[in-house]
Amino acid sequence: MFVFLLGPLLLLVAFSGKCLASVAFCENADYESGALGTSPYQTYQAAPFHPIQLNYALPPTECPANNDVSGYFFFTPSGVVMMQDHIIILNPNGTLVGAIPGIFLGLHKYNGADHIAIWDGQYEPGHQAYGRGYIVLLDHTYSPVANFTTVNLGVGADFHELEITSNQTAIMTAYPPRAANLSAYGGPEDGYIADGAVQEVDIATGRVLFTWRALEHVDPSECYAAIGDAGKGIREHPWDYFHINSIQKQDDGNYLISSRQCHALYLVHPSGDIIWRMGGKKSDFVLPKGIEFSWQHHARIHNHSTVSLFNNGAANWVEDLPFAQGFLLKFDYNNVDKEVSIKNIRNPFNRKPSASRGSVQFLENGESIVGWGSVSYFSQHDANGEIKWSAQFSPSQNDFGAYRVFLHNWVGRPTIPPSMQISNTSTSKNITVYAWWNGATEVSAWKLFGFTASTPSAPTFLDAVSKVDFESTLRYNGEEGYETFRVAAIDANGEILAYSDAASLGGNTFHVKEDSLLQVLYRYMRAVFFFEL
Ligand SMILES: *[C@@H]1O[C@H](CO)[C@@H](O)[C@H](O)[C@H]1NC(C)=O
Ligand SMILES: *[C@@H]1O[C@H](CO)[C@@H](O)[C@H](O)[C@H]1NC(C)=O
Ligand SMILES: *[C@@H]1O[C@H](CO)[C@@H](O)[C@H](O)[C@H]1NC(C)=O
Ligand SMILES: *[C@@H]1O[C@H](CO)[C@@H](O)[C@H](O)[C@H]1NC(C)=O
Ligand SMILES: *[C@@H]1O[C@H](CO)[C@@H](O)[C@H](O)[C@H]1NC(C)=O
Ligand SMILES: *[C@@H]1O[C@H](CO)[C@@H](O)[C@H](O)[C@H]1NC(C)=O
Ligand SMILES: *[C@@H]1O[C@H](CO)[C@@H](O)[C@H](O)[C@H]1NC(C)=O
Repeated sequence: MFVFLLGPLLLLVAFSGKCLASVAFCENADYESGALGTSPYQTYQAAPFHPIQLNYALPPTECPANNDVSGYFFFTPSGVVMMQDHIIILNPNGTLVGAIPGIFLGLHKYNGADHIAIWDGQYEPGHQAYGRGYIVLLDHTYSPVANFTTVNLGVGADFHELEITSNQTAIMTAYPPRAANLSAYGGPEDGYIADGAVQEVDIATGRVLFTWRALEHVDPSECYAAIGDAGKGIREHPWDYFHINSIQKQDDGNYLISSRQCHALYLVHPSGDIIWRMGGKKSDFVLPKGIEFSWQHHARIHNHSTVSLFNNGAANWVEDLPFAQGFLLKFDYNNVDKEVSIKNIRNPFNRKPSASRGSVQFLENGESIVGWGSVSYFSQHDANGEIKWSAQFSPSQNDFGAYRVFLHNWVGRPTIPPSMQISNTSTSKNITVYAWWNGATEVSAWKLFGFTASTPSAPTFLDAVSKVDFESTLRYNGEEGYETFRVAAIDANGEILAYSDAASLGGNTFHVKEDSLLQVLYRYMRAVFFFEL
């Protein structure tokens, strides 16, 4: 709750810093030292959002990255202090584009168009190591178009991975618990172990195309997380021996599966058989000198010739390496040549291991975005792996973070109208109106219109402003006495994209319209974290 006190402080500091309030900070010493708190965030006059405040600890050439980076950052910041379980879409300059409840499971092509995938469900009790739930796809209007989960596994889909194939099938992870005699591993005879399941399901029909269970193929002795480190081995807290965290279906039908606890990648045939292992105790490959897989995440094969992954170097209970890295390794997909070599390596701006999470996203030009997992940074790297800039979204260096951080192009045109709030003024003179449109990417200006009950279809133009931040402020001096208003979102060509609902100066001259997109999504989503602060 102490973050509540941070708002005014943040504003003061923002004005004394290099960057303006709401725009990402650059090399802000107070941010980095923690003087602004564990979770500096942005606030608005009216819009009910508190997105994280970015600080470019290693700035791009132009700060705050107006020109260097194109697209939007998508991620779900999480940690103990900040509000959790929401996806934020940020401009590279740190201003908010949209906020959606749920856990971000990537942007995916479905039926030929980009969709945002969100996970909702229950975490493992007392932990957030894995979960059971379901996945919803939102189209560019933020309407849910699909809702699916795993089938007949006893638990629903987990949040570690989603891939959507060109056949409109979903590839998901799940962690079904199984009763097991764990005495050989130092656990109870009547113990419980968490399996690592992969399932491919046809999204439209729910037909299961493929199910794979780690326990049928990988013995717990192959892995590194002891009972006690990752689960107690009891019903309420099964031993998380495998910890599946990424799957990628290959064009030949094989599946690349990453197991964090076994420090290994597995290429799995559609029959379920393991074709080869890379890393871990039974590697079929020889890793280059100085490279060892350590609690890794987000493995992806590219072009049948390289594999990328985020190498954590640590788990929540152990540190094995001095710092995390993003790897791009060259290898022989057919495992004839066993030698793996280094193509290039991404090093973090702050040299630390990462106890959980992490991602390496390759952009079309060969550059990459690395999310540093439990360390609250992300960075862009050139095609040789050299760091170009690094942004932090909390000064906390441990167990805060984001599961994966992605840079994507996206067009958001919400069907829900823009929101507005008229400031509480005791007269109808000097009216201030705040306008925002959660998730809309095409607004470049706002216009304010006034009208009367007798002329609802003939609104009079009162004010216009360029949009430079999530929320915009419009003003009206009240001379003509209008008491009913609406705002219009204007695109780059000057065309009206949409009007807000009309709002009047009511009896107490106060009107709030809460964010309607959130309201609609909350109708079926569990988390309501935005309003907690
Ligand atoms: C799509 O389905 C066809 C026919 O079953 C199959 O041959 C192909 O491998 C599938 N593609 C993917 C990406 O799963
Ligand atoms: C459990 O496994 C151990 C060996 O690992 C064995 O000695 C013991 O008999 C087993 N217990 C049961 C109930 O099967
Ligand atoms: C894969 O190949 C394409 C086309 O040759 C190339 O543009 C891309 O950078 C390659 N990806 C990686 C990760 O090497
Ligand atoms: C608006 O402001 C007036 C005067 O300050 C106050 O009495 C009233 O309670 C306010 N209304 C709301 C809804 O905050
Ligand atoms: C109108 O409101 C603005 C913003 O609240 C304030 O700065 C300004 O002084 C007000 N003007 C008058 C004439 O009250
Ligand atoms: C932030 O970036 C967005 C997208 O490029 C731009 O529209 C907006 O004007 C920028 N805001 C500021 C305050 O620089
Ligand atoms: C999706 O499915 C889950 C589980 O059946 C359900 O609780 C939820 O309301 C559904 N959401 C939508 C948008 O259909």
